[in-house]
Amino acid sequence: MLKVLKHPLITHKLTQLRRRETCTKDFQHLMNEIAGLMAYEITEDIPLQETRVETPVGACDTHEVNHEIVLVPILRAGLGMVDGIRRMVPTAKVGHMGLYRDEETLEPVTYYAKFPESMPDSTVMLLDPMLATGGSASAAITELKKHGARNIKLVCIVGAPEGVQRVEKDHPDVDIILAALDVGLNDRGYIVPGLGDAGDRLFGTR
Ligand code: PRP
Ligand code: URA
Repeated sequence: MLKVLKHPLITHKLTQLRRRETCTKDFQHLMNEIAGLMAYEITEDIPLQETRVETPVGACDTHEVNHEIVLVPILRAGLGMVDGIRRMVPTAKVGHMGLYRDEETLEPVTYYAKFPESMPDSTVMLLDPMLATGGSASAAITELKKHGARNIKLVCIVGAPEGVQRVEKDHPDVDIILAALDVGLNDRGYIVPGLGDAGDRLFGTR
């Protein structure tokens, strides 16, 4: 299932993120803010359990979250979404998935994978700001499934239709959540209009 989040604050911050002149510091800040707002919307149906607390005035029968969330950023650019979500969900565990896209073939190459043990019983949010050809996301989801993940949500900021179709075809059981669905890809596999190279803009490497 594809869901494009249309909240005005997400749209506004994404507009700032896209601007060519947005500096590395602001880019990092905005990406975390967008990810946090996305997490707020995505977690609207996570399970609650009943609990009773004592307020200074008396007993209160209420609810609290009783469900594990695992964040798995795809290195590097996915790292830019982690802190923003952890601010909303401080108990979330964090795995890491090291992938880069070969610039000639555009195929993903895995160089690191480390996940918590609780993957099978958790909601696993796979984080990457860019869903371009979908090769990286599809390979990462395959790896998550090998480690037992059953409830996977792919959370990307900008997606191309090509990437959405690839993930839907390879992993029809995975929810895809975007802040924007863009027009397509250029001949270098970049999302158009997109926001450029997310990793480089986030870490100031180019
Ligand atoms: C970017 C991006 C995704 C991937 C998307 O990473 O962060 O992981 O490309 O492309 P795809 O959908 O065509 O696979 P990149 O390979 O540039 O690595 P980086 O995060 O280290 O910059
Ligand atoms: N990776 C990026 O960082 N940007 C794109 O537009 C496509 C892949």
